[in-house]
Amino acid sequence: MTLRRAWSVDGLSAAIVVLVSGSAMFSAQSASPNYDETKVPPYTLPDPLVCGDGTPVTTARMWEQKRRPELLRLFEEHVYGRAPARPGGLRFDVFEHDRNALGGRATRKQVAIWLTGQRDGPRMDLLLYLPNGARGRVPAFLGLNFNGNHAVQPDPAIRLSERWMVAERSPCIVSNRATEACRGIEAERWPVATIVARGYALATVYYGDLEPDHPEGWKSGIRAALSPAGTNTVFGPEAWGAISAWAWGLSRALDYLETERAVDAKRVAVLGHSRLGKTALWAGARDRRFAIVISNNSGEGGAALARRWFGETTADLNRRFPHWFCGNFKRYSDNVAALPVDQHELIALIAPRPVYVASAEEDRWADPRGEFLAALHAEPVYRLLGRAGLGVTEMPPLNTPVGDGIGYHIRSGKHDVTDYDWAQYLNFADRHFRR
Ligand code: GCU
Repeated sequence: MTLRRAWSVDGLSAAIVVLVSGSAMFSAQSASPNYDETKVPPYTLPDPLVCGDGTPVTTARMWEQKRRPELLRLFEEHVYGRAPARPGGLRFDVFEHDRNALGGRATRKQVAIWLTGQRDGPRMDLLLYLPNGARGRVPAFLGLNFNGNHAVQPDPAIRLSERWMVAERSPCIVSNRATEACRGIEAERWPVATIVARGYALATVYYGDLEPDHPEGWKSGIRAALSPAGTNTVFGPEAWGAISAWAWGLSRALDYLETERAVDAKRVAVLGHSRLGKTALWAGARDRRFAIVISNNSGEGGAALARRWFGETTADLNRRFPHWFCGNFKRYSDNVAALPVDQHELIALIAPRPVYVASAEEDRWADPRGEFLAALHAEPVYRLLGRAGLGVTEMPPLNTPVGDGIGYHIRSGKHDVTDYDWAQYLNFADRHFRR
């Protein structure tokens, strides 16, 4: 039995109490989803500021040198899996360039990123919009999209993706391939004209360029392509899952942005929605070049606390999306209390860089309160590193953004990315990038 610091979370008091843990306090999160606040059992969160050997973390230096690397390793080993480093000889080919996009307000570029440096090897395509008439390098938003770059704008010059697509997403997808009718189907989630008018670049990549999103997708994705023949780097207990592969791709997109003269690569905000919000958080935790990290409705496996039994559970993730996480993660389906980390520590790994967590009222599957609490419990790390966090201890009212180093809002409406969400992200980026 161990004595641990724990937060009494469901009364939402951030007071620290002493609990006795060591036993699996609750094991069966696997039944039907719980949507009843009064039925959320008590749980004990691991303390981001106590090392595995019990040493309390009292200085920024200890966080930096001991606890942060330890936590990162735990997330690799138990949750997302370990991704390889940047491959040598990454190659970028700009294959399309138009200075007169969006009625002259933007420059559009399309770039083939050859992920092994070989022009007959795996490739992802980056779509970039740059504001015209900017003075100096501009900050940028970078995110993966769900339906192909051609879905982000109804612009016939965007290369139509030939990759595998999730058929259920739209009737325009025929036999898992995009058709011309798919142009612009995701445009509502990418207000490109507004982003550019605010002086930001937007860069996006289709997540299926890295790995098609289904359990067999790895076979034609980057995970198989980077596995030396005969090695088991796809299914090992700590081998990277699809979320890690997508996050790895975000880092490769940033590698390109570092070479792009119009962009200030030190001011890149990485963002994502839902499974791609989980991906953005993990990308931002691993790769400290991302200056801001934004999670839009990322839910379980993203910003939401795993130990809180509300909405989706670890068991649900493992059952429905076995390819997303590493092999070891399956061990926690029926015993989430044994996970050596929880998601507030993922957010803490981003500290002291600004992070924004956004929830939606009707998105109960993603557990908005669990997302808020993870942000709240990351705050001690932000404070240790000298940065203000959320600044509140209670969930704010609807449509009322809060926070400084950690931003948070819950908006009305459903699971989606809306103009309201973007307005907050642009304000947040203005606040941190234009100080
Ligand atoms: C499913 C899944 C979620 C995920 C979401 C999405 O609902 O259960 O974990 O966030 O899909 O990516 O849209």
